[in-house]
Amino acid sequence: MTTALVTGATSGIGAAFARRLARDRHDLVLVARDAGELRRQAAELHDRHGVEAAVLRADLASDEGIAAVEARLSDPRRPVDLLINNAGFGQKGAYLEVPVADELRMLTVHCEAVLRLTTAAAEPMRQRGRGGVVNVASVAAFLPRGTYGASKAWVVRFTEGAAHDLAGSGVRLMALCPGFVRTEFHERAGLGTDNIPGWMWLDADRVVDAALRDLARRRTVSVPDPRYKVLMAAARLAPRGALGAISSRAGRRFGPRHGAAGGHGRQPAAERGGALGETIRQGD
Ligand SMILES: NC(=O)c1ccc[n+]([C@@H]2O[C@H](COP(=O)([O-])OP(=O)(O)OC[C@H]3O[C@@H](n4cnc5c(N)ncnc54)[C@H](OP(=O)(O)O)[C@@H]3O)[C@@H](O)[C@H]2O)c1
Repeated sequence: MTTALVTGATSGIGAAFARRLARDRHDLVLVARDAGELRRQAAELHDRHGVEAAVLRADLASDEGIAAVEARLSDPRRPVDLLINNAGFGQKGAYLEVPVADELRMLTVHCEAVLRLTTAAAEPMRQRGRGGVVNVASVAAFLPRGTYGASKAWVVRFTEGAAHDLAGSGVRLMALCPGFVRTEFHERAGLGTDNIPGWMWLDADRVVDAALRDLARRRTVSVPDPRYKVLMAAARLAPRGALGAISSRAGRRFGPRHGAAGGHGRQPAAERGGALGETIRQGD
């Protein structure tokens, strides 16, 4: 039995990865901030698929949270075979409307955490001669789209570079670049979605199926839908100015945000129970 660690496993794309990997008989380590939701998901996946599902509560916007997950990934007694760096969030507001502190928090979750967790996982994977890392980016990586797009562009370039450097080591790295996916993402950030046409929406389970197919095919960048492959090819040919104008409007209608500031639409982590970095195993 192999073990997969999924960040942002309580919702959306991360929850879809956890469901699919449990169905494929991987033991799981589920990471997010909401301890209650983590426990609920772990119990459900354990009961339905008979896999071991541990939970690790960690805020990946904090040094302690990242360090707790790094420690789990580099523990030689409990090797992790597949890392899914998926945790992330959107931001309510255009440039100069978002507080710099929120932009920095996004860079910590999208870039610093991805760098540190990939490194903590890849070193032991290289020593074992096998393993995989999927870094969830976005098609926004290829478009002018604020700090969000810039952080996802970093994820794509970092992953491509690391994959190149680790070629032949047995460790596969892939950046996953979905378009709009129906998850809690937009509501949590307070992003209105009424100007996004229905045909542009993707299903999280299908995104995950396509991602794992592309990982098996040793792709380093996955755009998991033909519609978006065509759109991204067209975007490469479009004039930069026109692309910027369209991109900065699509899916960025800034409606009222639900919950706390900075793309975190639920209660603050401290109120949701469990010590930082706490590990709760099935049966606890
Ligand atoms: N939905 C889209 O249209 C779309 C498109 C392209 C790419 N993406 C990317 O896909 C990834 C997943 O997004 P999603 O759409 O599935 O959003 P989602 O439904 O809002 O889920 C986000 C997940 O990330 C976790 N998370 C957020 N901040 C965290 C933090 N500081 N520390 C630890 N965990 C944190 C959340 O759990 P807790 O609140 O419990 O911590 C939740 O499990 C993100 O990286 C996003 O940028 C999304």
